[in-house]
Amino acid sequence: MHEKQMSIDGKRVSFLPTDKNIVEVAKRNKIALPAPCYNVNRINGCCKVCVVEIAGKIKYACTTAPAEDMVVIVNRTDLKELRKERIEQYQNGEKDNAPCECSCSNSDCC
Ligand code: FES
Repeated sequence: MHEKQMSIDGKRVSFLPTDKNIVEVAKRNKIALPAPCYNVNRINGCCKVCVVEIAGKIKYACTTAPAEDMVVIVNRTDLKELRKERIEQYQNGEKDNAPCECSCSNSDCC
């Protein structure tokens, strides 16, 4: 399969056409990016923890597809703080970050 390239935190990384989103690209390239509601078979997009910056805008890594030459920022102090805050909210069951895109009925999911 032909690999394409993008940048995460200034480092060139590769991704495959089968990579659905930035979470999968980060994982394969061993870049830590918390994504507690992400499931490879179901994109939830409801915890709002997986925040990254792309072209000056905050995006959710689990609902953003990778693209050739995309520039993604993961590890910056403000993004880390925001993820930390949202992880606490998620763990405390504060789900004001809805709507959840998941249509499952499994309460463990989201
Ligand atoms: S992992 Fe992306 S919103 Fe939950």
